Amino acid sequence: MNIGIVATTPYEDQKPGTSGLRKPVATVRQFHYLENFVQSIFDTVGSAGQTLVLGGDGRYYNRQAMQIILKMAAANGVRRVWLGQGGLLSTPAVSGLIRKHRARGGIILSASHNPGGRQGDFGIKVNGSNGGPAPESLTDAIYARSQIIDCFRILDAPDVDLDRLGSVQLGTLTIEVIDPVADYAALMQSLFDFDLIGDLLSGGGFRCCVDALHAVTGPYAHVLLEQQLGAPVGTVRHGTPLEDFGGGHPDPNLTHARELVDLMFGADPPDFGAASDGDGDRNMILGRHCFVTPSDSLAILAANAHLVPAYRSGLAGVARSLPTSAAVDRVAAALGIPCYETPTGWKFFGNLLDAGAITLCGEESFGTGANHIREKDGLWAVLFWLNILAVRRQSVEQIVRQHWQTYGRHYYARHDYEGIDHERANRLIERLRSQLPTLPGRSFGPYTVQLSDDFSYQDPIDGSLSHQQGIRIQFSNESRIVFRLSGTGTHGATLRLYFERYEPDPRRQNWSASQALADLIALAEEIAQVRHYTERDRPTVIT
Ligand code: G1P
Ligand code: ZN
Repeated sequence: MNIGIVATTPYEDQKPGTSGLRKPVATVRQFHYLENFVQSIFDTVGSAGQTLVLGGDGRYYNRQAMQIILKMAAANGVRRVWLGQGGLLSTPAVSGLIRKHRARGGIILSASHNPGGRQGDFGIKVNGSNGGPAPESLTDAIYARSQIIDCFRILDAPDVDLDRLGSVQLGTLTIEVIDPVADYAALMQSLFDFDLIGDLLSGGGFRCCVDALHAVTGPYAHVLLEQQLGAPVGTVRHGTPLEDFGGGHPDPNLTHARELVDLMFGADPPDFGAASDGDGDRNMILGRHCFVTPSDSLAILAANAHLVPAYRSGLAGVARSLPTSAAVDRVAAALGIPCYETPTGWKFFGNLLDAGAITLCGEESFGTGANHIREKDGLWAVLFWLNILAVRRQSVEQIVRQHWQTYGRHYYARHDYEGIDHERANRLIERLRSQLPTLPGRSFGPYTVQLSDDFSYQDPIDGSLSHQQGIRIQFSNESRIVFRLSGTGTHGATLRLYFERYEPDPRRQNWSASQALADLIALAEEIAQVRHYTERDRPTVIT
């Protein structure tokens, strides 16, 4: 088999965002586009003699891209690739496999929760040897390389059979085609009380519905919940990964997981409902007529961690991203453990996890995780909740309400304005930035600004600095508005507004979030002129 060295010219737009390179399928399928980026990865990371993990969420172009990457890995001297059968591996499974096999890193083909199919998005994420997303220094270096690339290496070989388990040789590269689920399932068994959860799920009195949204979680949920834990067949819905996710938007939130939400808020709903996203790292938790905000979910997991075998001996600390509500901060204070506030994006948790500074962490964007891997983990959160429910034998709603009674309720909402004009979005942010020094002390009705800044973060482990991570306006009555631009969108700019209001009094914890936050939403408009700059009357998505 010959190694081809193929001349190429750079594409300018290969700068990875917070979650890797994410582009429309049509962009990725341009001549040598994928090859350029993959060669840039190999050139930067150093591929000779290395072991890598490779998998994807099964979206359109996954299998074709796998073939290209495998042949390029062989031509670049990679020694071994652990490949999920059918080219499938969830993001958490990749993270676990990198750690298990002490691999140099991994490549995950996914655009996470973005739609798939011919008209959808594709993505390439690079993970490092700790199993977590590549740090910015590495993605910057990959980007720099992509801007001067002039050739790539590829083996002239027939396609690899992605579906047959076992070892295959491609030149000097050994490809181990593995069951995508087995190692992940074993990891979950090591963390949770499977006997107890099994009693709950197979006992007949408790009904559960997990919607995989035709994405990669399906095979994992079928094995874990239905085969290993004995939940009735049918517990997992839309469990077969499809290239276009059935035409849906594989994002577990109140807008995109509509069918599950209708079920859980309809007549005679199951006791527990959950959904996950395209690559299996996000989760949404629901009870009967009850939605658990991701911020509350993180806090509740932290408060109940002692009920779960893996966390029985206590938590080292917890962390949340800036826009995530401070619900977990109160639990940390009660437990007497540190709570870190990081910028958006999972990579900031990686250092804290590696250093053993935290055990649990999460984001408001339906991401929750722990120290077992270095990515957020959708099914892990589902199993954590089921473990708590199996011990406490209360409803989801009872658990949430008791939590609010103890710690207070953090009313919370996020408003996304998607696909807006880049320049106008930047002008809104610039204008807000220029207002920041003038805001503290100003009152808007009962809301007096206490602090206003553009969040800067110094990593407590390596000292690195990240600036301009989100504009926060904090009020004296423990309310908050955060403004930031998305780093993951592919069409136009996305402006995100995050609203939070604290209510310690149980008699005032029964409003809807939109009622409780109405004043703050009006205030954001007053301060930032959102309608004017976005040219929209209302947000595209509210979560
Ligand atoms: C979004 C979420 C963020 C998450 C990221 C990757 O990023 O808001 O919390 O880490 O996706 O899943 P954003 O588009 O806001 O930059
Ligand atoms: Zn995801």
